[in-house]
Amino acid sequence: MANGSMPISRRGLLQAGALATVAASLRGDLLNEVFAVGPAFTPTSDRKIRIGVVGGGFGAAFHWHQHPNCVVEAVSDLIPDRRDTLMRVYGCQKAYESLEKLILDPRVEAVAVFTGAPDHARHVLLAMNAGKHVISACPACTTLEEAQQLKETKERTGLKYMMAETSYYRWETITARRLFQDGKFGELVYSEGEYYHPMTGGERQALWFRGNERTWRYAYPPMLYPTHTTAFLVGVTGERLTRVSCVGWGDDDPALKENAYNNPFANETAMFTTDRGHAFRGNVCWNLHGHGERAQWFGTQGALFMDGFAGQPFRMLLADGTSVSELPDYWHMVPEAMRYDSGHGRSHPFLTHEFIMALVEDREPAIDLYESLAITVPGIVAHQSALKGGEQLAVPSFDRK
Ligand SMILES: NC(=O)c1ccc[n+]([C@@H]2O[C@H](COP(=O)([O-])OP(=O)(O)OC[C@H]3O[C@@H](n4cnc5c(N)ncnc54)[C@H](O)[C@@H]3O)[C@@H](O)[C@H]2O)c1
Repeated sequence: MANGSMPISRRGLLQAGALATVAASLRGDLLNEVFAVGPAFTPTSDRKIRIGVVGGGFGAAFHWHQHPNCVVEAVSDLIPDRRDTLMRVYGCQKAYESLEKLILDPRVEAVAVFTGAPDHARHVLLAMNAGKHVISACPACTTLEEAQQLKETKERTGLKYMMAETSYYRWETITARRLFQDGKFGELVYSEGEYYHPMTGGERQALWFRGNERTWRYAYPPMLYPTHTTAFLVGVTGERLTRVSCVGWGDDDPALKENAYNNPFANETAMFTTDRGHAFRGNVCWNLHGHGERAQWFGTQGALFMDGFAGQPFRMLLADGTSVSELPDYWHMVPEAMRYDSGHGRSHPFLTHEFIMALVEDREPAIDLYESLAITVPGIVAHQSALKGGEQLAVPSFDRK
């Protein structure tokens, strides 16, 4: 399941086209037939990866304890309540007070780093330098220097790294990837991704403060959290975002006048060009009337539209007249115990499965370090562009030479 997708059969799409002329749209169950979705997961190994899970907020929302090839060896959070949550959720008896202590445990083979975003690179480097494979929450890093350190450390140690980017395994994205791989978009010339998460009212209080203390999210620069947008293109086509011009917006909110990041923006809108000459527009906004993560992809021969908070429906339209209004079903691709929606477009089981199978099969995960940096770094440069009034800047590459 390295790419989380199977090619769509030509015969199937011809059938889809024929069906579409009869009915205006295809239901998801018919779509499953015409798309030839691929084999169900069957266990091939008894190996159990011994993982340590750090971060008892979002880090408690994965399926490590339910995967047949994984056991949760230890958990950690600085906050005792959150340690307890991790122990309960994952059925694990061993807890450490910090990541720094957990990585000293020789029985831990891999670490799931779900700490705050500005700490990811530092924590991932600590874990890799202790000899552990790592899956980290997004983003991979927040500076270009950290990106370089991650690349150097991965290449020196040979350990595996994966970013747990939920937008990569939303089912619409899996579908877009399959369409792209089978050439059904024609040339995918323009895409849009957006992540809207208003940090206002009660949400602001809950996310920006723990007690009276500010959390890392307080006035965090939107484009240092670009991955829920950029993954919608990089995760589908593998192309690279090479240039960016970004517009930032902020008001007289006191949080934007004084914060740990010197960040004056609540919203950022970036226009990227790619190494294949295509355009991509990415929005990350903390203060507008919108919600959710969403993309639309436009090719010369087909287009795909995610559903959205305003009631926009999912739709796939192809030039041959095919019109699809329901997603195919991908549950068979993950182990049975994990086949339920635990958030973010049913992506969590797929992220869990991909990381564990990459370790079991001794291969790079689909969202390896190079893909992760190609998804993360353009946002770092976009924020720099916004600070320079939208000046178009080049995005450096951290790909394999
Ligand atoms: N859709 C998505 O992909 C998605 C959704 C939510 C959160 N996230 C990301 O996941 C990460 C975690 O999110 P969250 O909402 O749980 O954040 P959070 O700040 O609520 O939780 C981070 C936890 O890490 C713990 N921690 C920090 N340093 C530690 C250390 N050295 N040792 C042990 N524990 C340590 C903290 O005590 C805290 O409980 C963030 O980076 C966030 O950006 C991604």
